[in-house]
Amino acid sequence: LYDYTTKGEADRMRLRTLATGAAFVLVPLTLTVFLLIFLGRIDPAGALDRDPEQEGLEAILTLRMSHVVAENTPKGQAARYFARRAAELSGGRIRVEVFPNGALFSDISELDALRRGDVDLIAPAASNWTDRYIEWQVLDLPFIFRDLDDLNAVLNGPLGTLLKEAPERDGLRTLLFWHSGLKQITTNVRPVLLPEDFRGLVFRRMQSSTIARYLELLGARTVPAPFNQTFPLLEKGMVNSEENTLTNIYSKKFYTVQTDLTLSDHGYLGYPVLVNDAFWRRLSPDDRAILLKALEEAGAYELRLIRELEARALKEMAASGLRIHRLTADERTAWEQAVAPLYDEVAVRMPPPLRAFVEARKPR
Ligand code: LMR
Repeated sequence: LYDYTTKGEADRMRLRTLATGAAFVLVPLTLTVFLLIFLGRIDPAGALDRDPEQEGLEAILTLRMSHVVAENTPKGQAARYFARRAAELSGGRIRVEVFPNGALFSDISELDALRRGDVDLIAPAASNWTDRYIEWQVLDLPFIFRDLDDLNAVLNGPLGTLLKEAPERDGLRTLLFWHSGLKQITTNVRPVLLPEDFRGLVFRRMQSSTIARYLELLGARTVPAPFNQTFPLLEKGMVNSEENTLTNIYSKKFYTVQTDLTLSDHGYLGYPVLVNDAFWRRLSPDDRAILLKALEEAGAYELRLIRELEARALKEMAASGLRIHRLTADERTAWEQAVAPLYDEVAVRMPPPLRAFVEARKPR
């Protein structure tokens, strides 16, 4: 037999249990919501005027860094590493947005953009600015540094200070130098081994009269052009040769429109990392220390990476059919003799300590 009385009681008990349970959940929930509204963490109108993502916005520092090379190059990788380390060292407070491949500014326009404050950090090829910061012409002299260790020793000494100070005339500050490496020659005319092989070659070059001059002394003609114009110029045959580091030759596919590469290590390609000085001085000492540390770590990482990226680039380019030539000691001496007069031309323009350095390093 079914007992209705007992069922009614059971239903009432179930209702009581449900009501008690609901009260246990709803009362604290309502209190919490009121508390959060009171503290301003929830907007009851549904319009979030306080987005948790935006909290502490005034404390977040966002910097834009522009450069013109591909990401799979020493500079491209250093910039990414720098952005990551700046974020890590600041607990996410400093954000560096990196714009590679000239996406923001070309190598010709980036320096003025920095002076105007339209970008916060740039790492231009020093060669593009050696006509403006004449001290940097020393860096463009062929064969002046034995290798990157030799170069770094100079940059870290008193001559390095002179080089770093040059852009102060424009209200800019050099934080440090990053490097691409040593430059090589590519052409689609003939193997280039001796100075006479330069005859009739037309080189794309950076905006540096020092580079123009040594290529002339070697016997070639030159056309100044932005980095991102180099491939189309080579492809259309408006120039037939260029000089660059292995990673730039590879990542920008110059080798696909060239037949021969000479491993000459004849010149240095490096990047002063520049900021607008007024902007830099507005940053807190803590932020400046974090940024410098991140830049230095990125520089050390870049140095370790150059060899690996260059080896990979060389292997791929050789496999594609590019003919690779290595200068012998005698061939190198012939190049050095051809460019030696440029050392005198540059030396007379230099302040005394740099003049002495150039004179001491002139090929004999
Ligand atoms: C070039 O213009 O050839 C390179 O210097 C570009 C760069 O920034 O490495």
